[in-house]
Amino acid sequence: MNYTVHTVNAILIGAGQRGAQVYGAFARRNPKDIRFVAVAEPDAARRAEFCRDHGISPENAAADWRELLARPKLADCAFVCTQDNQHIAPAMAALDAGYHVVMEKPMSRYADELRALQARAEQTGRLVTVCHVLRYTPFFSKVKEILDSGVIGQVQSIQQIENVAYWHQVHSFVRGNWRREDETSPMILAKSCHDMDILLWMVGSHCTKVSSFGSLGHFRPENAPDGAPARCLDGCPAADTCPYDAERIYLRDKGVHVPVIRKVVSLENTDESVREALKTGPYGRCVYRCDNDVVDHQVVNLEFENGATASFTMCAFTWDGGRTVKIMGTHGQITGDVERDEITVTKFAGGETTTIRLNADPEGHSGGDKGFMRDVVRQMQTDGAYTGRTQVSSSVESHLIALAAEESRVTGSTISMKDFA
Ligand SMILES: NC(=O)c1ccc[n+]([C@@H]2O[C@H](COP(=O)([O-])OP(=O)(O)OC[C@H]3O[C@@H](n4cnc5c(N)ncnc54)[C@H](O)[C@@H]3O)[C@@H](O)[C@H]2O)c1
Repeated sequence: MNYTVHTVNAILIGAGQRGAQVYGAFARRNPKDIRFVAVAEPDAARRAEFCRDHGISPENAAADWRELLARPKLADCAFVCTQDNQHIAPAMAALDAGYHVVMEKPMSRYADELRALQARAEQTGRLVTVCHVLRYTPFFSKVKEILDSGVIGQVQSIQQIENVAYWHQVHSFVRGNWRREDETSPMILAKSCHDMDILLWMVGSHCTKVSSFGSLGHFRPENAPDGAPARCLDGCPAADTCPYDAERIYLRDKGVHVPVIRKVVSLENTDESVREALKTGPYGRCVYRCDNDVVDHQVVNLEFENGATASFTMCAFTWDGGRTVKIMGTHGQITGDVERDEITVTKFAGGETTTIRLNADPEGHSGGDKGFMRDVVRQMQTDGAYTGRTQVSSSVESHLIALAAEESRVTGSTISMKDFA
């Protein structure tokens, strides 16, 4: 494989939370590996901040991806980090312009667009790498290594829980960008296409059947406390006891997630600017009086070609975020907690039990963001000869499973993947 260790050049489409604060931040910390040489971003303040942080000259900054991609190819790859329903068009255009594409999930909520993107990647001979960051966490890397070693025999069933965390649900899926299906996508696609992807990866077989149940159970007007105004800061009588009070979440809580979500509320991220934004902006709204419609809990059952099954639960009502998993094999079991970076393996013959404590990685997605970027750098340094740990075909399959789960939830039927879409 032709492999030259050189600094990868990239362009960024969408300098928002992911584009600027995750991938941009990685490039700033690892300037020998990757640098951003151009940006497209309509928000003038975000564009200016990104240009300043990455030393990008004004002629390499544009307000729209169309303008940037109309120029001669500027770099090895294009990062597509726009919002959910704005991924497919710039990704297609970037492939046509000769870039490898690194794109945020979900690729699209439409099966025909997913297949068209895969076909375009194959036609152009360019990579499409979806940011399925779980595959790159030390946790799932280790689990996969244990499964491949055969120590627990053949996987028969997996139980996985996505603990969304109460504050995350209200920040993103009640008040925030992912609250409405028509503006983004069903939550099982937006939040859990990662889980469908990791289940496929762990089982190592194609999915044959899917069924799902779930609803928006709590964040509805009828559950508002008596006398609650439309905005938390307008003297809500329940402020002291409501876990979702905006002042509590953005101004009083001390969790490690707080600086990240505050920056979404106000780019300036001072107490004063956050308070001002809460008075008038979307993040200060009462969680029972928003225009949200995505679910707050959902379960999915899956059957695979090799006979294995999986059950997956996504739920808003948890204290911690992150995933917990139990993998049941013919010769043993694995239990694990991604946030705690802890894996316990038990062999049935003799009951030998080993607990592996990985070095909990405080960086994004339990180290997944960093691992993902390292893999992308390697892909680009080989000009796509190394195709990476995540391939477009399996990303398309995991997205289709999520779409099938949603169809099952809405229609009440079991979906056969071979007949789906
Ligand atoms: N991989 C993961 O684990 C993960 C985690 C969180 C979010 N995401 C996904 O990442 C994506 C981005 O999320 P975010 O929180 O960064 O959103 P964001 O809203 O902060 O950023 C999107 C940016 O795209 C910009 N944009 C809009 N139109 C544009 C155009 N025509 N040309 C160029 N830029 C344009 C917006 O102005 C905005 O700054 C979403 O699809 C989200 O679902 C992925």
